[in-house]
Amino acid sequence: MTSKDDEIKKIVYGYSTDQSYLEEENRALQERILHLEQQLNKFTGTPLISCEVKELLDDKVLVRLPNSNEFLVDLSQDCSKIEPGDTVLAEQKNLTVVKKIQKNKRFDVEKFVIVEKPNMKWKDIGGLKEQEREIKEVIELPLMKPKLFTKVGINPPKGLLLHGPPGTGKTLLAKAVASSTNSTFIEVVGSELVQKFIGEGAKLVKEIFELAREKAPSIIFIDELDAIAATRMDVGTSGEREVQRTFMQLLAEIDGFKPLDNVKIIGCTNRIDILDPAITRPGRLDRLTGVELPTEEAVKEIFKIHTLQMSMGKINSKNIAKTMLGFSGAQIKSAVTEAGYFAIRENRTKVKEEDFLQAIEKVAEKEDIEYKEMFG
Ligand SMILES: Nc1ncnc2c1ncn2[C@@H]1O[C@H](COP(=O)(O)OP(=O)(O)OP(=O)(O)O)[C@@H](O)[C@H]1O
Ligand SMILES: [Mg+2]
Repeated sequence: MTSKDDEIKKIVYGYSTDQSYLEEENRALQERILHLEQQLNKFTGTPLISCEVKELLDDKVLVRLPNSNEFLVDLSQDCSKIEPGDTVLAEQKNLTVVKKIQKNKRFDVEKFVIVEKPNMKWKDIGGLKEQEREIKEVIELPLMKPKLFTKVGINPPKGLLLHGPPGTGKTLLAKAVASSTNSTFIEVVGSELVQKFIGEGAKLVKEIFELAREKAPSIIFIDELDAIAATRMDVGTSGEREVQRTFMQLLAEIDGFKPLDNVKIIGCTNRIDILDPAITRPGRLDRLTGVELPTEEAVKEIFKIHTLQMSMGKINSKNIAKTMLGFSGAQIKSAVTEAGYFAIRENRTKVKEEDFLQAIEKVAEKEDIEYKEMFG
């Protein structure tokens, strides 16, 4: 062999190693391209939309979108075994259901409503003796002595409706009875139910009642009931339909549980005049309890309750109570706090009668301004 042959062999060998190296590199780059393409697809693809399965009809499904619209759509092949109530992902274009994400998802209701065991005593409520008696009869007695009702053979009411002006102690009464019966107190605000949980109000209502049964004895306290239970002439917009649906669910739940199920409902409203009579029909919240502005005697009691811890000079509480006639309990409390501030501003630790009188004037003025802002 000549040295030339050797040289050629060397070159050929060099090329063939280069070739396998390049082939290897090519493979690696191909893989990288594929990966990047996948990434790109992921970032530029249209997102899937999450919706709730309402019904299965033959090989199609009725889904409800978050905006409450419902569509009958197809089901992709690799998505089987779905049930009404499931949450699924659907393509945006034709809403074909492609994936199930949660089975019969149960709301984390406890995140959305206040659940507590309140500590509120009857003696901390001024006046309202008649209302206290009524609540004890309708709520406390059946929860504490259900046997009494079975023996006599009557069904206690499922709940009651507290109505009256703001700040008069309605929430206090509800909390006090939850305390005295050691019940779970589940607080729901009507307006929130329909504004915060658009499209989910009815579902939430259902689950609130489930939660109440689980945690019985319990009291479901629905504040601002008028926000979901007002009479409506038309249900045109989707918002109104949603409120209507939530209200229907509430009625269904009230009708659904037994009077002695250890769950009681207390509804609350400032606007009994606009309530749908369906809610107060016999068998529902058929006991109405009015909570009015305190009488002079009650003003005195409320004043006493809120000044119990206060360090005061000599005052004529009768006179003070007289000047506060027409105030709600909340305003009386606010006048007491205000009076304390007058003392603080003058570097005193004892509150004088004059402080109260000034504070009362201030609270009354504030109400005047608010009234004018509201009604012109
Ligand atoms: N009868 C009362 N006795 C003692 N305090 C009272 C009384 N009524 C109201 N208050 C005071 O006013 C505050 C507000 O009262 P509460 O929340 O019960 O009013 P409400 O009737 O539920 O009002 P709203 O209709 O605005 O919800 C209470 O926390 C309490 O300090
Ligand atoms: Mg209240």
